[in-house]
Amino acid sequence: MHSDAMLKLLNRQVDLEIFSSNQYRQMSAWCEMKGLLGCAAFLKAQAEEELDHMRKLWDFINETSGPARMGALEAPKADFESVIEVFESGLAHEKKVTAAINEMVELALSEKDYATFNFLQWYVTEQVEEEALFQTILERMHLIGAEDRGLYFIDQEITQMRSQLDSKG
Ligand code: FEO
Repeated sequence: MHSDAMLKLLNRQVDLEIFSSNQYRQMSAWCEMKGLLGCAAFLKAQAEEELDHMRKLWDFINETSGPARMGALEAPKADFESVIEVFESGLAHEKKVTAAINEMVELALSEKDYATFNFLQWYVTEQVEEEALFQTILERMHLIGAEDRGLYFIDQEITQMRSQLDSKG
């Protein structure tokens, strides 16, 4: 059984994961319109992963105190100046998600809610990976150059990164 404060944060995280999914799907549409099909596919897969993050939370909330509740969501950002801005926004967003997860971990510990603390460890690890992934992509973009022909190579690079991630499972 969770405290009201914990339940509120868990439900807030449900919304944040759905928003993340919407944001990445919206970003993927921008990339698709620019002909960056590798980036678009990467972001679409990312959008699906975010729904998995939401589903795990949803089940956990209902299996424990429940009920899981969805709130209102803001529209995701749809217009970008460049593909670098897309991925910079992605990294900034992941940092926000990490902060939200950390807030839940701190509350779980302070309330001695060890079931939630234990459940959240998966998200702590996942956030390290997600931030590192966006950071690596941005480093490669700066290395290759995100203009003219560089864009083509970046798109290829991101396609490769995605298939490596998919093969890891
Ligand atoms: Fe579910 Fe990208 O954090």
